[in-house]
Amino acid sequence: MARTPLIAGNWKMNLDHLQAVAFVQKLHWTLKDAAHDENSVEVALFPPFTNLRTVQILIDADKVPFVLGAQDLSTHDSGAYTGEVSGVFLDKLACRYVIVGHSERRDYHHETDAIVAEKVQAALRNHLVPVICVGETLEQREESGPTAVSVAQLQVALEGVPADADVVVAYEPVWAIGTGQVASPEQAQEVCAALRAVVAEKLGDDAAARTRILYGGSVKSGNVASFLREPDVDGALVGGASIVVDEFAAIIRYQKHVGV
Ligand code: 13P
Repeated sequence: MARTPLIAGNWKMNLDHLQAVAFVQKLHWTLKDAAHDENSVEVALFPPFTNLRTVQILIDADKVPFVLGAQDLSTHDSGAYTGEVSGVFLDKLACRYVIVGHSERRDYHHETDAIVAEKVQAALRNHLVPVICVGETLEQREESGPTAVSVAQLQVALEGVPADADVVVAYEPVWAIGTGQVASPEQAQEVCAALRAVVAEKLGDDAAARTRILYGGSVKSGNVASFLREPDVDGALVGGASIVVDEFAAIIRYQKHVGV
């Protein structure tokens, strides 16, 4: 089954809503000028919550070929949860995706595997596709090998998920995030293959064949193609390079770098 590559830009806590307007317009025009084939790759933008409405209006009005995602959501749909953002709201803002279990949330906000699993359920019941992030620290890699932590995290996250659910998995080794210390394509492939086996075990072979598994961690225009060449890597979750227009545009056009 052919899987459409997904290039996802996680802006993290960068770009205010005015900068977001300029960024999205410039990205659109850069790709237009470069005759980007919008059918060959899906591009998702994950701005901060405060920019979602702004970017959604641009997507609607300009027909820019991007889809919208949020960086997190509440485990709850409504109620007295000050500061939380409901999946109901994200769905109404036409978000297609929502990141869950990013290592920065696991680390700085103490999100456990159980909370991540609740967020996966919150996403699915609100018609959002969860982008489930997993990945090991350097110490964990040295202690238990390259796949054990990610496999265990994904097993919990997929607990109770129906076989026909649409999910995306992102392998983001913590040691490669924002460090410039990128995993090798072979390292990414090894873990992504193990994660696809978890999807098969939990959701069945059809789901494993259609589910996209991304690599994230210091992805740049110069290395993205080497990851996308791997059979079990179906896209990239990009942090720092996703808020630099020319760099992100070059990542989206990764096929052109290698002439595939
Ligand atoms: P960097 O691309 O900045 O390493 O960040 C990766 C990431 O955390 C994307 O979610």
